[in-house]
Amino acid sequence: MIFPIVKFGDPVLETPAADITTFDEELKKLADDMFESMYAARGVGLAAPQIGISKRIAVVDVTFKENPDAKLVLINPVIIKKEGRQRSSEGCLSIPEFREDVTRAKIVTIRAQDLTGKTFEHTGEELLARAFLHETDHLNGKLYISHISGIKRDLIKRKIKKLVKAGEW
Ligand code: NI
Repeated sequence: MIFPIVKFGDPVLETPAADITTFDEELKKLADDMFESMYAARGVGLAAPQIGISKRIAVVDVTFKENPDAKLVLINPVIIKKEGRQRSSEGCLSIPEFREDVTRAKIVTIRAQDLTGKTFEHTGEELLARAFLHETDHLNGKLYISHISGIKRDLIKRKIKKLVKAGEW
């Protein structure tokens, strides 16, 4: 099932999500639906709050269907190591049409549980490192615009307000 993507302004995006404690068929279905919703929206990462579900699960595929092994389900993820720096353009499905340069760590190790509840660690570089940080932020109620200057953030918020007024958001 393809869920509509929740957009900036909805409080669910700025609320820390709840831990997942039950690893059942329903959770597997949610992960499948999240991949389907992410691909439909042309994204490479999606966190459950972005479909209105305040639970600590995110899906990532930085290859966008190229490599099935690149599909990652991150449940209750925690960033455990960050190294180096990278700066490049970042966007978010919940803030469509906007992009800004964001400085992030270049190499990131995440610890998370899989769909069976098993804990694993995964180290990602470049785009994958960025995705780990961006999606974990989502589960903590944080958006990438919190990492840009206040001036740029206010400008984006003002533009969004106008779009809301015009019924285009
Ligand atoms: Ni996002």
